[in-house]
Formats: sequence, C-alpha cells, structure tokens
Amino acid sequence: MAKKIILVAAARPNFMKIAPLWRELSARGAEFDPVIVHTGQHYDYNMSEVFFADLGLPPPHVHLGVGSGTHAEQTAGVIVAFESICLKLEPACVVVVGDVNASMAAAVTAKKLGLAVAHVEAGLRSGDRTMPEELNRILTDSIADVLLTPSPDADENLRREGVEQRRIVLVGNIMIDSLVHALARVRDRAAHRRFDCAPREYGLVTLHRPANVDDPEHLRALLAGLQGLAYPLIFPVHPRTRKVMGQCGLDGLTASNGPLHLCEPLGYDDFLNLTLHARFVITDSGGIQEETTYLGIPCLTMRPNTERPITITAGTNELVDLAAMPARVRVILEGGWKRGTVPALWDGRTAERIAAVLTDRYA
Ligand code: UD1
Repeated sequence: MAKKIILVAAARPNFMKIAPLWRELSARGAEFDPVIVHTGQHYDYNMSEVFFADLGLPPPHVHLGVGSGTHAEQTAGVIVAFESICLKLEPACVVVVGDVNASMAAAVTAKKLGLAVAHVEAGLRSGDRTMPEELNRILTDSIADVLLTPSPDADENLRREGVEQRRIVLVGNIMIDSLVHALARVRDRAAHRRFDCAPREYGLVTLHRPANVDDPEHLRALLAGLQGLAYPLIFPVHPRTRKVMGQCGLDGLTASNGPLHLCEPLGYDDFLNLTLHARFVITDSGGIQEETTYLGIPCLTMRPNTERPITITAGTNELVDLAAMPARVRVILEGGWKRGTVPALWDGRTAERIAAVLTDRYA
C-alpha cells in the first residue's frame, strides 16, 4: 500500500513549490499517497486560495488554520497543531519547502516525533541573521534528513557547515517546474491591459520585506523613489506593505500615483504573465529573483544581500539600494543590461528528481 507523505504548504511562496511535487507524486501513485497540509500562515484569497486554483492543486487535505501573529505565536501554533496531524497520519516523510516560519516549525515538529524530514530549497544562505528567513533556513537544514538543493552554491554552504554529503542532493529549482508548466497557459493573459500599460513598456514592483516596508518613513522614501523613475510601474501591494501604507496616510490600493499603478496582490497566473512581459522587475522577493533569471528579465533586488547569489553571477539580477536605482533602470532602458544564463537543473524536471530521491529513501 502507498505510504503517506506530507507536503507542508504555509505561505504564498510555498504553493508553487508544492504543486509540481504533488503532481509528480500523485502520478507515480504506487509509492506514496501525498497529503497537503496547509498551516494557514497565509489565508487571504489572493495570498493562498487563488494559487491552489491557478496551480491546479486540490484544496488542502488538512488545514491547521494557524494564521498570522508574532513569530512565536506562528511557530508555536504550527508545532502544536501539526504534531497531532503527524501522530494521526504516521507519514513516511514530511516535506517542507523554502524558509517561511511554518516550514521551519513543521520540520521541528516532525523531527521531534522521529519522522523523516526532507527540505526542498535547502542550503541557501544570505549570511544575514537579522532576516527571520535566514534563521528558518539554518534551523531547518540542521535537522532535516535530506537536503534537496537548487544550485551548487547551496551544496557548498552546507558542506561548509559540516553537513555529511549523503544528506545533500542537488536536484535543481522546483519553482522553475511550476513556471515551465504554466508558460503556455499564462503567456496570452494580457494582465497589463488592466493598467493601461503596453508589453515591455512597464516595470513590475513587489516590496514586502520588513527591512523595506515596516518603517513608514523608509517606505515613503521608497515609493517616492519609484515615482521619481517617471516610468510606468505595476505594483501589486502585499498585505504587510498595505498595512504600513495605511499607517502613513497612503492608500495602498486606490491611489493613482502618476505612473505608479498600485493593486491588490495577484494570483500566480496574472503575476507570471506580468513578469513575462515586463521591461524590468524591482523586488525584494526571493523567488522573483529566480523567475526573472529563468526568463531573462532584468531584476533589481532592493536588498543588501541575497541567499540566491547564482541569480547575480549567472542570471539577470543585481542588488541595488534606493540611491542606485534610477541609474540602473536607465541602463536597462538603454539596452545595456547583462544577458544572463539559466543555471543547470533549472529545467522543469526537479520534481521528478525529488520524487526519485524520496522513493529511494522512504517508499
Ligand atoms: C512571509 C514570509 C516571507 C515571505 C512572505 C511572502 C516569514 C518569516 N516570512 O512574510 O519569507 O517572503 O511570507 O508573502 O515566514 N497578512 C494578511 N493576509 C494574509 C497573510 C498575511 O493580511 O493572507 C498580513 C497580516 O497582517 C500579517 C502580515 O501580513 O501579520 C505578515 O504576514 P506573515 O505571514 O507574518 O509575513 P509575510 O510578511 O507575509
């Protein structure tokens, strides 16, 4: 009989990493019975449900409903709720993806019960321990049994930390599986029309990191800097960012700010369509640095560091601050941006490689 395997989904950047695995494990059928457990870290329709619909995922089999809160509340809530699910389902393995709070909490819970844990997107390091995600990455990698990495720099990080080679498997980038699978479906959605923008004649913006958006004055300066570019920009506003905009008297959604078009967070298909046809992207997201590298779209990352350095050394990404942004955008508009290449194993077949590893070790 097929053994249960839990796929933990928690927050927006998890869903496109779970979907290809769900598809692959379900198609193989005989070895595993995959169960999707949603912790509830993200719960708004456009932060969660729309992704299940766009990505063709079934509704979560189990919903823990933990929701937002302080880091301690989120982490503790998942640990308590997930423990009883693990005891009930007795999975052969728990798969966690990425670096959000709930992924780390689920990994800790499973490991304390003696269950096998696989971490997808293991080994990434920014070196910046002020970011909660960096702590989540270090904690998850230190206890997971199998560390499934997206690129050789991740393997090197793990080896440097003393991880035994048999725990590390370079499998490639799972998020690119979702992207490859969606390309034909989303290419012609023309999501830009809603903003009166033409293909290749707008920039796409996302900002939600605490370091960029939690301080109202800093956020105000960022928004002024974006407006100062005097170039059409589409900016789907994350709930964290919208909250702070409200605190500093800015309307996060309806303000018509010249070339800056603000809107609610978008689903996977609309956002990928906008990325595909953007002239450039300005972001502080992790995954978008990778998607733009795959698509060859210039990416300006508004952060002092990245856990995804391959997007800079091989891809189209560059770290910038507010002062440098206008000059770097000019370089893009004048056609002087680097071309970039796609890293090895970012090929749409990572889920197959992961399924093979999991079958080999846990089926
Ligand atoms: C989390 C992740 C971050 C990831 C991001 C993607 C951690 C530490 N951070 O950050 O790595 O890049 O998700 O979105 O895990 N909120 C809503 N509706 C929702 C979800 C959140 O309104 O569906 C609001 C709540 O006010 C909440 C705030 O957003 O308090 C922040 O949500 P949270 O999940 O704590 O962190 P993110 O900033 O989303």
